[in-house]
Amino acid sequence: MKSVSLIIVGIRAAVGSRYFNSRGSVQIAGAAALSWQPHRFEGNCSRYGWMVCSNTAVWDQIANDVEVKENFISKEEEEELLKDVQPALNKLKYECDHWDDAIHGYRETEKSRWTEGSKIILQRVRDVAFPPGIPQLSLVHVLDLDKKGFIKPHVDSVKFCGSTISGLCLLSSSVMRLVSENNKADWADLLLQQRSLYILRGRARYEFTHAILKDEDSFFKGEKVPRDRRISVICRNLPVSEKQNLG
Ligand code: OGA
Ligand code: MN
Repeated sequence: MKSVSLIIVGIRAAVGSRYFNSRGSVQIAGAAALSWQPHRFEGNCSRYGWMVCSNTAVWDQIANDVEVKENFISKEEEEELLKDVQPALNKLKYECDHWDDAIHGYRETEKSRWTEGSKIILQRVRDVAFPPGIPQLSLVHVLDLDKKGFIKPHVDSVKFCGSTISGLCLLSSSVMRLVSENNKADWADLLLQQRSLYILRGRARYEFTHAILKDEDSFFKGEKVPRDRRISVICRNLPVSEKQNLG
């Protein structure tokens, strides 16, 4: 499996530019979100315990493009990853605003060196998330949201990220909300339990914004999902253009 680093475009640029192509959608979806009463929503399509959609058409659109694997890692494996990421995170301060206002209460890093134990876990993530041979970012994105932190609706930049986003959820459960870029009334909520892995592909990745709800809004099918500090460990693949550029 060939995996390459995006270090050539600059680490900060790679992270900071994730939202570059989606600023419009961040603002539109963010504004819509303000008028929502998310916990009053009763989605009417939920065939998995971890996903509820606003309607069956949304289900049909994205059910094949979204996976949540509960208990993907054990408590011991979560500990191993946490031990591995904490030293780098501890050097950073929590930031209140992302440069384009997409994230609040966060610190983040891109990590290339992992303990042997973590490498085995990350390889399992890569094996289930990406088809064999597909070029991946070798740097893993580690995002630490504090208890009050949240991620507003956005689409990851198509410039730096390919068709698949896969994230391990450590320390806290949370709700990820997907909203159609074409119709804000079309949405899906994902229950991301602590130690789960989520995978977004295709239409769910390109045609829907994704967001991690703040504690006050963190409800799934009407049930509170308390949000605490949450660390995600995210693997992505390369966009096709990068693959071509890198030969
Ligand atoms: C991001 C993002 C989701 C997560 O960093 O672009 O959407 O699970 N993160 O932290
Ligand atoms: Mn994202």
